[in-house]
Amino acid sequence: MTFPRTRMRRLRRTERLRGMVRETRLHRDDLILPLFVVEGHGVRSPISSMPGVHRFSVDQLVTECKEVADVGVPCVILFGVPDEKDARGSGADASGGITQRAVEAIKQQVPDLIVMTDVCLCEYTDHGHCGVVEGEEVVNDASVARLAATALSHARAGADIVAPSDMMDGRVAAMRTVLDENGFEEIPILSYAAKFASAYYGPFREAAESTPAFGDRRAYQMDPANGREALREMRLDLEEGADALMVKPALPYLDILSQARAEFDVPLAAYHVSGEYAMIHAASERGWIDGDRAMREALVGIKRAGADWILSYAAKDLAPTLD
Ligand code: PBG
Ligand code: ZN
Repeated sequence: MTFPRTRMRRLRRTERLRGMVRETRLHRDDLILPLFVVEGHGVRSPISSMPGVHRFSVDQLVTECKEVADVGVPCVILFGVPDEKDARGSGADASGGITQRAVEAIKQQVPDLIVMTDVCLCEYTDHGHCGVVEGEEVVNDASVARLAATALSHARAGADIVAPSDMMDGRVAAMRTVLDENGFEEIPILSYAAKFASAYYGPFREAAESTPAFGDRRAYQMDPANGREALREMRLDLEEGADALMVKPALPYLDILSQARAEFDVPLAAYHVSGEYAMIHAASERGWIDGDRAMREALVGIKRAGADWILSYAAKDLAPTLD
């Protein structure tokens, strides 16, 4: 049956009707808020390329986390930004390191909030790469050992979920083994499995001070052109023991998210990254788009494509407007 018997507009006439036929709804439980933690006390410094996003010292981070929990966001992911960096990223797995102290403080003072940690070395290395470097090469297996030690130190600090973002081969299996051997068999791994070498990470690197000092990340992060390879990465990480998988960035890779949704039954996360967030704010500041609506549209699109979890810098702002 076609027009005029079929009229698609019949079910769009009022907001009540539109609500009844709405297929995808953003919910607070879908959201994960990324947070940056720095050394010091009383620090709440804005990141210029990410309006509304700050770097917090541990005390301020706890205050922020209380507010985040109060508006119903269930989970945060922490990025530690240490003062001291060195070649092997010693701060990454230090027991009194910045991320470890942040996790301890949040779990003590906001126990209900799920604390996820980003596991990587780039914030801790003086060269800014996600692994250990020999010459100009990021070497895989030595990096995996450092990353597994980092995941373990986060678990020891009380992290509820660890999320490796480095893109080394074999790191999920190494982390699963080390966690299990040390009594953390209940700690899930969310793998940044399909992480692309993206231009959209620019603002994040300002926030995390993690811009590579030489070269780029294309020898470990994925080529944006490759979809089949992304599914292979995800399959491998599942075999290695990942509990959940991530696609990152989000909007340019919705095809991969939707294919992953069809193929895998584990929770899928998508990271609406710093550049995606910044673009919406920049256009909105110029009066070129309605930033609030554009942000919601982006996130609902990510969910419609198949994401269960959405990492978004707008999570705290959006949550009060959601169910
Ligand atoms: C580091 C890491 C990056 C992001 C999350 N973890 C940046 C990178 O790979 O350079 C990007 C997040 C964002 O842009 O919001 N491993
Ligand atoms: Zn990294």
